[in-house]
Amino acid sequence: MRVCIIGAGYVGLVTGLGLAEIGHEVVCVDRDEARVSLINDGEAPFYEEGLAELLAAHAGIGLTASSDLARSVAQSDLTMIAVGTPFDGGQIALEQIEEATRDIGRAIRKKDGYHVVVVKSTVVPGTTDTVVLPILEETSNKRAGADFGVGMNPEFLREGNAIADFMEPDRIVLGAIDQRSQDAMADLYKPFTDAEILRTTPRTAEMIKYTANSLLATLISFSNEIANLAAEVGVDAMEVMRGVHLDKRFTPSAEDGSRIWPGSITYLEPGCGFGGSCFPKDVKALIAFGTQNDSPMRLLQSVIDINDTQPARMLDLLTRHIPDPEGVAVTVLGMAFKPGTDDIRESPALTVTDELLSLGANVTAFDPVARRPIEDLYGERLRYAEDLEDAIAGAKAVLLMTRWNEFKRLPKLLQSRDPQPLVVDGRRLLDPSSVERYEGIGL
Ligand code: UGA
Repeated sequence: MRVCIIGAGYVGLVTGLGLAEIGHEVVCVDRDEARVSLINDGEAPFYEEGLAELLAAHAGIGLTASSDLARSVAQSDLTMIAVGTPFDGGQIALEQIEEATRDIGRAIRKKDGYHVVVVKSTVVPGTTDTVVLPILEETSNKRAGADFGVGMNPEFLREGNAIADFMEPDRIVLGAIDQRSQDAMADLYKPFTDAEILRTTPRTAEMIKYTANSLLATLISFSNEIANLAAEVGVDAMEVMRGVHLDKRFTPSAEDGSRIWPGSITYLEPGCGFGGSCFPKDVKALIAFGTQNDSPMRLLQSVIDINDTQPARMLDLLTRHIPDPEGVAVTVLGMAFKPGTDDIRESPALTVTDELLSLGANVTAFDPVARRPIEDLYGERLRYAEDLEDAIAGAKAVLLMTRWNEFKRLPKLLQSRDPQPLVVDGRRLLDPSSVERYEGIGL
């Protein structure tokens, strides 16, 4: 199928490359000319595991980039909208969606034949039916259902794992206004014979996306609230949660009697909070949407409140040992909001770094891949370490904020240090007995 994707950002480009990989002819449209050139040259505009390789394989062959939206739509069978939907504090901003939709509608107006428009961006329930569809009808002067199709197909890609998530989907949600639109979307994913396909309405598809992210965020805040109480009463939250995980409803037995540990279990562990471009934004957007629809989202508001205060726990643990961090060398290990990405948006590490700076600490930052975005943000206010060894040199305290695997080397590296710095583990990555002075969330 010839597919046009509007927005060559994270979702658009990963989706485009995935579709090219399964044999579709894809054009990614972006108004950022520099990005368009980069993609056409086969260079990845951002870091994502496996992206560079996939781009090198498909750029200029199965996937091209363009800034000419009208032409790209005209030459394709299906157009996906994958532009940003930032949360402006009161609701998600739909300007980019509306603009892209108007341009698509105008292109469809001049195009012969049936075309399908699919919303991929995360939008609140009703957006496809009440915003996208009417704009398409108005600007194309054609009728949805009769002359063109409309659908909503949420993405479930985790940063750092996005290519694998695309290539091995657990479910594909196809929300559409009619059977024909839905069939066209199903054709797109035909090679994924193992994935569960859920056929539904656009409104339900939109709601599924928010509900999935809100549930995962809730698991994290729930675990963190329990962790904070456990720490207060002298109980290790890791042990508590393990005892909970062992309920067979969470970890069922496999045929050989061993336990199956689903991926959701890691969301039920103590930590310093969630970040990224999805959970905080999506949960807040759903809260705002609930308020607008006379359904106050009290539980989700608590999920956000707990998460907002969780990074401060790291500083509480630090100041228990170093009451006044002014002038003290403190290292923040891990700035990305999670491992496998250089994305620092809404990362709890930023909250902690800001607070350390305001307390006058001499902060060294280290992240295996996110150095450039941190430097852009903090400039000369931080020292940037080259590697883990350099990061801990001279540190009086080390705050572990991101679950990067290579931080497991920390205890070994600290063995030769006397005295060892304080280690505050925000991800419960290390064995508490493996370093001399250990503090961890939920311990
Ligand atoms: C999330 C969802 O997991 C995806 O299914 C969804 O498609 C995506 O949002 C999206 O809406 O686009 P992502 O934000 O990339 O994906 O990352 P996660 O791996 O889910 O992590 C989100 C946050 O939760 C991170 O801050 C991470 O550190 C935290 N987290 C994650 C934990 O605290 N514990 C965990 O076990 C896992």
